[in-house]
Amino acid sequence: MTDLLIKGADLIGKGRKDLLVRDGRVAEIGSITAKGAETVDADGLVLLPGLVDLHTHLREPGREDAETVHSGTRAAAKGGYTAVCAMANSHPVADTAGVVEQVAALGKAAGYADVQPIGAVSVGLEGRQLAEIGAMAQSAANVRMFSDDGHCVWDPILMRRALEYVKTFGGLIAQHAEEPRLTEGAQMNEGAVSAELGLPGWPSVAEEAIIARDVLLAEYTGARVHFCHVSTARSVDIIREAKARGANVTAEVCPHHLLLTDEAARTYDPVYKVNPPLRREADVAVLRGALAEGVIDAVATDHAPHAPQDKDCEWAAARPGMLGLETALSITVLALGGPSAVDWDVVAERTSRTPARIAGLEAHGRDPQPGTEANFTLVDPAATWTVVPADLASLSRNTPYAGMELPVTVQATFLRGRATVLNGKIAEETTE
Ligand code: NCD
Repeated sequence: MTDLLIKGADLIGKGRKDLLVRDGRVAEIGSITAKGAETVDADGLVLLPGLVDLHTHLREPGREDAETVHSGTRAAAKGGYTAVCAMANSHPVADTAGVVEQVAALGKAAGYADVQPIGAVSVGLEGRQLAEIGAMAQSAANVRMFSDDGHCVWDPILMRRALEYVKTFGGLIAQHAEEPRLTEGAQMNEGAVSAELGLPGWPSVAEEAIIARDVLLAEYTGARVHFCHVSTARSVDIIREAKARGANVTAEVCPHHLLLTDEAARTYDPVYKVNPPLRREADVAVLRGALAEGVIDAVATDHAPHAPQDKDCEWAAARPGMLGLETALSITVLALGGPSAVDWDVVAERTSRTPARIAGLEAHGRDPQPGTEANFTLVDPAATWTVVPADLASLSRNTPYAGMELPVTVQATFLRGRATVLNGKIAEETTE
């Protein structure tokens, strides 16, 4: 592999520097001239450690019409990601060593981003019997994070046993917090808008009740709980109090919950249907504050591609979920004050360093130092782009941002020193 020289990138906390990459690792940082190296002009670009997504639905195996590991990681690279954690709600469910190893192998073969499978907590995500957690942990996929996402681990005894189990090897449970009895038939956030539209509501307390319970279980067992897609102001209060007491909990927020509200449901366009649902303006404001402050640890996309037949239908019949990988960085920057006011150190912390730490991905989320793996992304803070669904790398089209002009473009993404994206385009196509 020839050396790579990145010229004049804006390094967080270090200013404008050149960066030499050799054999997939950072070799030198400073003012560098290197003959024979492939040179990338990074004038005016900010260098971030490669983004890490704690919550990606890659749909393979089972729904390759909506996304594959190949197409999903291609989308991830375009969004600036170097690693994604693949959710377990595939078909078959990732509840055995065989499935998680298959997903990891598909990720390696595609080569666009590292794929870390998440294992299911329960067999078939059915919430009755613990899945083969130990076998997945010991498998070649080295699973550390377990989640029934799409479903809540509702049964408190199952949650307790899962926590006690993963604690033995330093794992964690990522909880989709939704008390199912409180959300039966729910179609959108419960509030003034759902009342007006006559759609059954998903009350915020259904999320908050499970978060409160699981904070207590985390404290009782001493195990780690991560809360997926936190969407309400009161959830933030509970997490803040839990952290102040020293509970071993972390939390993520999704870009759409940082920007959109339940007012969007007035269009009856199912592209806005998502689980947990879009909430109120007041929730959006609190989530933004909590992300800036760090009470919410990370941004996670909950990238949920859906085929047209599952989305282009009436609201009640549509599947919940929206695309996220290619727009997450732009929305995060918007939510953290916009491109002129944003603190890039906070962006790096919430989109890369902290999620890498939560997932235990040691080679990711690292600011460049001599010796670290060259996993990073170059972003243009001054550029804007318009979201055109047909131009997205995802196989699906269910983005809620179609036609919107967003700040910040991803110019290049590097995985172990190899460009996956260059000049905003996939650098080298791999076959599926
Ligand atoms: C998720 C999906 O499509 O897999 N959808 C979503 O709205 N977040 C699963 C889920 O949480 O329902």
